Amino acid sequence: MQAGDGARGEGTAGSDDAAGEAHGGVSGAAPPDSPALAFEDVACTFVSRDDPGQRYAALRGVTLRIAPGEFVSVVGPTGCGKSTLLNVGAGLLEPSAGRVEVFGRPLEGINARAGYMFQADALMPWRSALANVTAGLQFRGVPAAEARSRGEAWLARVGLTGFGERYPHQLSGGMRKRVALAQTLILDPDIILMDEPFSALDIQTRQLMENEVLELWAARRKAVLFITHDLDEAIAMSDRVVVLSAGPGSHPIGEFAVELPRPRDVIEIRTRPGFLDLHERIWSVLREEVLEGYAQQRRAA
Ligand SMILES: Nc1ncnc2c1ncn2[C@@H]1O[C@H](COP(=O)(O)OP(=O)(O)O)[C@@H](O)[C@H]1O
Ligand SMILES: [Mg+2]
Repeated sequence: MQAGDGARGEGTAGSDDAAGEAHGGVSGAAPPDSPALAFEDVACTFVSRDDPGQRYAALRGVTLRIAPGEFVSVVGPTGCGKSTLLNVGAGLLEPSAGRVEVFGRPLEGINARAGYMFQADALMPWRSALANVTAGLQFRGVPAAEARSRGEAWLARVGLTGFGERYPHQLSGGMRKRVALAQTLILDPDIILMDEPFSALDIQTRQLMENEVLELWAARRKAVLFITHDLDEAIAMSDRVVVLSAGPGSHPIGEFAVELPRPRDVIEIRTRPGFLDLHERIWSVLREEVLEGYAQQRRAA
């Protein structure tokens, strides 16, 4: 299937182009006070290639704005359209209705202001860790020596000094995620899009990575759209948690500001009363959607 009015590529994001170095998209100075990324009444309908009469409206009526420097998490049941939303924000998928704006400008083509981190490992297995980290710089024509020194600095920042010559298969899952993180952040994107980046990691590694991401984010304050199905993770990391309804026609049904102090430690923050209250409030909205999403999957199976 592909998205209604023309998918870019094959519908879902799957390229190694994770660092978002592709060109096109947005240009010109940003109007003041515009969100870093805005979805305005966005819909995304997939049309079956074999049977164009068969359609599935993944998203409908999605309005969501992320301010510069804001960390927003989107939670929702499996299959509701979280990845679809992120792909629309990345410019990999064209919405069937509505519009996407990047710093106040309509997005056309790939979102060149955004860096993208996938759920699955998107490292190039034939490249060393360092060569993976510097791939985007290389594609942009940065001289090799400069790319190398910037790459090494980023490897150090994500705790991988000395691992630059290793290949992805010689690294643990957590290390590969660190490489992917460095690969995304080295291009200094103004918007960071993350699609369940740590869901495949064991819980301890995951919490370490969450803290690392928070530290890196605090130092640079980029806009983040973070997709997860883990409510604890969403609250611990974010300024705001947005709940998507079960599909079809998934859309935000709740928005919650997270007013817990920063800097945060994702393990420690979970024990705060404010965290537990918020968890309860969000879960009361999310619960029904998760049950509905689960029922749908059982019907489809
Ligand atoms: N390329 C595609 N073609 C057809 N249907 C798709 C495609 N991508 C996603 N979908 C459907 O759209 C819905 C939302 O998918 P997705 O965004 O991957 O959900 P999530 O990330 O929340 O688990 C699902 O029902 C999925 O089957
Ligand atoms: Mg997904």
